[in-house]
Amino acid sequence: MKRDLRIDGQPENKIGIDKLRVGVLGMGFMGGTHTQAWQRGKAVFNWPIDVELTALFDMSADNLDLNGNRFEFARVTNDWRDVCEADDIDVVSICTPNFAHREMAEVALAHGKHVWCEKPMATTLDDARAMAATARASGLKTMLGYNYMKSPAMLAIKTLIEDGRIGEITHFNGVYQEDFMCDPNAPHSWRLTKKGGGKGALGDMGSHQISMAIWLCGPMAEVSARLQTVHKMRPDATTGEMKEVETDDQYSAIGTFASGAMFTMHTSWIGQGHKMNLGFEITGTKGAIKFDQERMGEFHLFEMDGNADMATNGYKTVLIGPWHAPFGNFCPAPGHHVGFNEMKIIEAGEFVRAILEDDKAFPDFDDGLVYEAAIQAVQDASEARAWIDIKPEV
Ligand SMILES: NC(=O)c1ccc[n+]([C@@H]2O[C@H](COP(=O)([O-])OP(=O)(O)OC[C@H]3O[C@@H](n4cnc5c(N)ncnc54)[C@H](O)[C@@H]3O)[C@@H](O)[C@H]2O)c1
Repeated sequence: MKRDLRIDGQPENKIGIDKLRVGVLGMGFMGGTHTQAWQRGKAVFNWPIDVELTALFDMSADNLDLNGNRFEFARVTNDWRDVCEADDIDVVSICTPNFAHREMAEVALAHGKHVWCEKPMATTLDDARAMAATARASGLKTMLGYNYMKSPAMLAIKTLIEDGRIGEITHFNGVYQEDFMCDPNAPHSWRLTKKGGGKGALGDMGSHQISMAIWLCGPMAEVSARLQTVHKMRPDATTGEMKEVETDDQYSAIGTFASGAMFTMHTSWIGQGHKMNLGFEITGTKGAIKFDQERMGEFHLFEMDGNADMATNGYKTVLIGPWHAPFGNFCPAPGHHVGFNEMKIIEAGEFVRAILEDDKAFPDFDDGLVYEAAIQAVQDASEARAWIDIKPEV
């Protein structure tokens, strides 16, 4: 079976370039992780080309000063068009708020740049459709920052499912909780507006959960859901003035995949006590798999076969090691763990491979459009208090 990702070995340089010149847009949380990935990727994946950090855009002069220096960008700018329209840039990393993704991606593609864009793809399904159409017409490579699909544990789980180790999937039960918005006085931000974030916990975190469910279990066919905003007003970060929250704090959904398997899922950024509880249990006709991103160095596998002795029948814990590619690119010793930034390096590896081999990157804007349609359907189901069919987008 064809894998979505091929992360083993050195990519072949089929397009004969000697260097990729990188522009990074936005130097917040994600900008830092993309930049570190661009810096470390060559050594980790033995890229047959050089990578040059050519330009950094950010809104803050202090940020540009600090990060332009410490990451050794050739130049910094407070105008993102200086990066997206420049002749000396081959690829851009879009690490700005959701509302900026579409325009930046479209301008970069129009100027011949490959685009690695953070998730969620856009604030609306129409914007995602437009971005995917632009990318398709450009012939350039795109990839979305769905890093959790790139961990060695997740790649191993995907392979086990594809190899039929748990049989036909009958159920996906997902949960994704973080607690960073539990405090009712956590400040208002672009994430809490329809224009800025698009959706709340659904777009920010649910996009990870939904994309992961689709990647592992196939396209979704129908959904019923409820979104909820618990803290309806939050203080402005500078003035303290209370402002309306336009997006959701949590959602729960139930539905079916096109295969007929069921899913249930819950996502919340007011999930007390949780820092990165992106987890699931996938049940099949021959076994089951459990995973939690808070313990990304392990997963749990149950197989009916070979479990006839009821005295020892049960899940086993598998610790991630060098036989779960590409863990071995980072560390030779099993159980010694990789982390969040390593997933970003694996993403960079996938993107550079796709560019050099003139191949599709995963997940590209077409894949992202499929996720965005499911995300929108969750919101529509809640608003309509109805079951919504999810139609194929591409
Ligand atoms: N893949 C993941 O796991 C993950 C994790 C966090 C965030 N994200 C995504 O990454 C993107 C950025 O999130 P972040 O947490 O890094 O944000 P951030 O607030 O830490 O940084 C955003 C950066 O964008 C710049 N910016 C702010 N407003 C802008 C505007 N109007 N126009 C252009 N640039 C602007 C800022 O200068 C800032 O440095 C979002 O789309 C978010 O959903 C992904």
